[in-house]
Amino acid sequence: MTRIVSAARVATLVGDFDRAPAYAGLARALTLLIGDGRIAFDTRLPSERELTEALAVSRTTVTRAYAALREAGYAEARRGAGTFTRVPGGRARAHDRALFPRSGDDDVIDLGCAAPGAPVGIAKAYAEAAADLPAYLGGHGYFPVGLPDLQRAIATTYDARGLSTEPDQIMVTSGALAAASIVAQAFTRPGDRLLVESPVYPNATDALRHAGARLIPVPVDPEAWDLDAVAATIRQTAPRLAYLIPDFQNPTGHLMSDAQREEYAGCLRRAHATPIVDESHQALALEGQEMPRPFASYAPDTITIGSASKAFWGGLRLGWIRAPRSQMERLTKARVSLELGAPVMEQLVLVRLLAEADEILPANRETLRTQRDTLVAAVREQLPEWTFRVPSGGLALWCRLPAPLGSALAAEAERQGVAIVPGPMFAAEGGLDSFVRIPWGRRPDELAEGVRRIAAAWAVVRERPTSSAGSSGRVMVA
Ligand SMILES: Cc1ncc(COP(=O)(O)O)c(C=O)c1O
Repeated sequence: MTRIVSAARVATLVGDFDRAPAYAGLARALTLLIGDGRIAFDTRLPSERELTEALAVSRTTVTRAYAALREAGYAEARRGAGTFTRVPGGRARAHDRALFPRSGDDDVIDLGCAAPGAPVGIAKAYAEAAADLPAYLGGHGYFPVGLPDLQRAIATTYDARGLSTEPDQIMVTSGALAAASIVAQAFTRPGDRLLVESPVYPNATDALRHAGARLIPVPVDPEAWDLDAVAATIRQTAPRLAYLIPDFQNPTGHLMSDAQREEYAGCLRRAHATPIVDESHQALALEGQEMPRPFASYAPDTITIGSASKAFWGGLRLGWIRAPRSQMERLTKARVSLELGAPVMEQLVLVRLLAEADEILPANRETLRTQRDTLVAAVREQLPEWTFRVPSGGLALWCRLPAPLGSALAAEAERQGVAIVPGPMFAAEGGLDSFVRIPWGRRPDELAEGVRRIAAAWAVVRERPTSSAGSSGRVMVA
């Protein structure tokens, strides 16, 4: 089936593009959209006539813009069929907006995925959980809201954080991303306005978008949340939902303070907007600091999403939803339309891990702190023109480059044997090509080698002449 994008949609996506000159601005805007996957690979672009009308520009502007796209490798004309999107290097280099982890079976150092290896203690927990399994084998094995023991253990973690929680307020899911899909299914109606941070973890916002939500991005600055901008956007747009990552925000690493949580919650309450709060990185405070109270302490209607992936291991594929009791039936109905529960064995493992969290987590944080410090030192030494804030937790550095070359850098870095994710992948509405995210979830020796390769790629990209599609905003995908 031919994938097409309408002229009206292209007009919305390119928005108020730079008109000096218009054809170059249009080509740049389209390059960015194709490059970061918002206009997917092999999509038929509108005809020149249709786009001319939709944009109210001259036909020559569109003709020249399409010619520039073709010349730069972002489009191909097929005789009698139209103009189709391409990316330099072919389909294998096309990015969907989702972040795909690499399989790990090649020589490329994968700094694309912000997830650590399993900490010590996981294999032991699996061995012990196998002994718990026989007690469940006589039953049907379906637990649509989770194994009761695990619901209880997760509820206890909220009690310990000062947020009183009953086990029946917890639904165990197959990871935080699956939790976001369930929440999207339960709470989003087509056309609902959803406030999202930008940059943001794109897979979760894609889950919400696929359920029909219209994203309303509000910038998260390299320094922190701008609550004045948040309040103004909420007043102007009256969103029904908001998706937030207050704990070591992915990708910026920011930690929202208690005062900010209270203020943010107040803004949402006044607008009758429901917070969806993703706490996936909550357990990764690396400075021994006391964490702020859960967002739900300030906004009791909050739907909270949690994950075992970062504190323990992504391979468990377990996360959860904590919600007001009144919402659990709605969530359960949504869940069973998608899947019928998470694996029993892994849930038993997580019960064990949570029971030993006081030993496992400090050791895990210690490892991550060493890795973070290794990464910070290597970037400072080898890429002194780059700037970043050192996050007090989480998993990644959000680095600002001195020029909008993030996507070009990611492409060249992969040629040099290291995968990184450029800023546009995290941008709710495009842009952010002056940023790249570099996670510290790998061993120190891999991080050191990874940064050496990134620095080699940077040296190439920095010196490269600009293309006919224009340099600012130009995207080459990895
Ligand atoms: C903010 C955020 N939410 C959700 C996820 C996905 O987590 P899980 O592995 O539990 O599905 C991630 C993974 O990076 C994340 O950073």
